This record gives sequence, structure tokens and C-alpha cells, in this order.
Amino acid sequence: MKTRITELFGIAHPIIQGGMHFVGLAELASAVSNAGGLGLITALTQKTPELLSKEIAKCREMTDKPFGVNVTFLPTFSSPPYPEYIAAIAEGGVRIVETAGRSPEQYMPLFKAAGIKVIHKCTSVRHALKAEKIGCDAVSVDGFECGGHPGEDDVPNMILLPRAADELKVPFVASGGMADARSLVAALAMGADGMNMGTRFVATKEAPVHENVKKAIVAATELDTRLVMRSLRNTERVLKNTGVDRLLEIERERGGDLQIEDIVEQVSGVYPKVMLDGEMDAGAWSCGMVAGLIDDIPTVKELIDRIMSDATRLIHGRLGQLLG
Ligand SMILES: Cc1cc2nc3c(=O)[nH]c(=O)nc-3n(C[C@H](O)[C@H](O)[C@H](O)COP(=O)(O)O)c2cc1C
Repeated sequence: MKTRITELFGIAHPIIQGGMHFVGLAELASAVSNAGGLGLITALTQKTPELLSKEIAKCREMTDKPFGVNVTFLPTFSSPPYPEYIAAIAEGGVRIVETAGRSPEQYMPLFKAAGIKVIHKCTSVRHALKAEKIGCDAVSVDGFECGGHPGEDDVPNMILLPRAADELKVPFVASGGMADARSLVAALAMGADGMNMGTRFVATKEAPVHENVKKAIVAATELDTRLVMRSLRNTERVLKNTGVDRLLEIERERGGDLQIEDIVEQVSGVYPKVMLDGEMDAGAWSCGMVAGLIDDIPTVKELIDRIMSDATRLIHGRLGQLLG
């Protein structure tokens, strides 16, 4: 399948693995790229730019296909050393970056000077248009159903994707709620050039996370995610667990007075506990409603091959036949 996204990134299939804290390591990124998609290492999971350089080198040993790095611009005052992280990416020979969080505007000159193609992930048409304006090569449009940070507009992909298609000139991929060939074909029908998946890729053999995490995603239904940190305007969709129940209780008690300090125990340092130790009740970790569509733990190649062959059947079969 050829789309503007496969052409832009030099990949066989229009499928991207979104950056994921403590999941987007070389093992998963290389598996996705080897299977013909675009795998992404998550920069900030590496505590220093030096460690990111090592992870990039490791990924390069594991694949000769294009892969990228996710750089998440956090809504915090004490900023990580972003220019150093970007230098590590450029020096590591990586030419594709997914940015997310705040606008990458201030770092665009660094990316462009290094010949890096930037795909910015955002949750609204206005932010997508801004990304296009500041020179991003593509956009990843993240609907309200997505795992992680859906923004504050709450527009689901059935509306957001056609709106993006109407407004954008640069290629874009659909993100949030994407799991299978049905997601891909629907996204293409709505004007996207491919899809980005997060939660679906966590439940694969190669995802370097504790088995408990994969089993929790398989066991979860579409009713099992919760939105947290709404009143802080830092909304995150996470999988329900006892830590998250406690978090929501504190949010109810504190109401509009909630401060991040009130919920530190439930949101800070949770990822290593969940992803490495399998402590599923530790607190808030991102998970999409799409968990309701995930009921197996295939290899990445099995997953991507299945999506592409089912998509072909769906287009030529069910859709083609509707026209008689
Ligand atoms: C466990 C997990 C961790 C994530 N961490 C990040 C992150 O650090 N940076 C980022 O930009 N997006 C992050 N995301 C969001 C994904 O890249 C992707 O946009 C999202 O999962 C898409 O929605 P889906 O889960 O419905 O596929 C994370 C998602 C998950 C499930």
C-alpha cells in the first residue's frame, strides 16, 4: 500500500508505533520497523542524552530499516535538556522525529538543520494547522479515544479525522483507537494517510514490558479506562486500577483546588513499577479505549501482516462488493 506517509518515511506499510514511555525501547521500535512499519524510540525514557545515543545505536544493530525517535515536550517548568537530546538523535543518524506535547516550534531550526523529518502529534485541528505552518512534514492526529493525553477538546476521531482532512495540506495519520485493518481502512476513508498505534503495540510479544501489562490490556474492555488530571488541564487516559481509583477520589475531594503535589504518589514514578515490575495497581499509566478491541498477544510481524492482508480483503471484498 502506497500513501504519502509511506513515501515520506520510506516504509512499506502506513503504520506507525507511537512513542511510549518505558515501552518505546529498541526492542519494540526495531520489531515494528523490521515488519515494515515505523518504529519509534521514546527519548525521555532514557534518563540522559548519552543513554539515548546508546539506545539508538542498539536499535540500529537490530534493524536496517528506517526508525525514529519520539520527543515529548512536557508541560513542566524544569525542562529536560532538549537540545542535547536532539543532538543525540541527529548524531545517531536518525532522520525521523515524532514530537508531542507542547509545540516543537522553538526546536524546528535544530531538526531542519539536521535534515530530520518531523511528524507532530496533536489533538486538535488548530494545533495541526499550527504544526503545518511551522514546517512539520506531517501530523499525527490523536482523537479523544487515545491512550495518553487526548487534550481538552474531547473530539473523537470520527469527527477529528475528516476535519483534519478538510484543512491540512501535509500528510497525516490517524491516532487513537486504532487496532486492526478496520481501523486502517476507516482512517484512509476519512482522509488519513496511515495510522499510529500505541496501546495495540504494548500487547505484542516484542514489547519489552512485564507480561502482567499485556495480560491487563487483553483482559480490559472499552469501559475500563479513566480520564485523570482533568482539572489540571493535563488530562490523561489511563487504565483503571486501585491506584487510579485513589487518584480519582483525591481529585473529587480537592475539586478545583487540586495541585499536582496532591497526586504525586499516583502519577510519579509509576511507569517503571508497572512496565518493569508488573505492579498493575501502582497508579496512572496510559492506555486507550482500544483495549476493548485487543484480545491477543501476537508478534509485531504477525500483527502488521494481519492488518495489511485483512485491509486488502476488506477493500477488495466487503467494500468492493457493496458497489456490485
Ligand atoms: C503506555 C503508553 C505510554 C505512552 N507514552 C507516550 C509518551 O511518552 N509520549 C507520547 O507522545 N505519547 C505517548 N503515548 C501515546 C501514544 O504514542 C499514542 O499516541 C496513543 O497511544 C494512541 O492511542 P491508542 O493507545 O488508542 O493507540 C503513550 C501511550 C501508551 C499506551
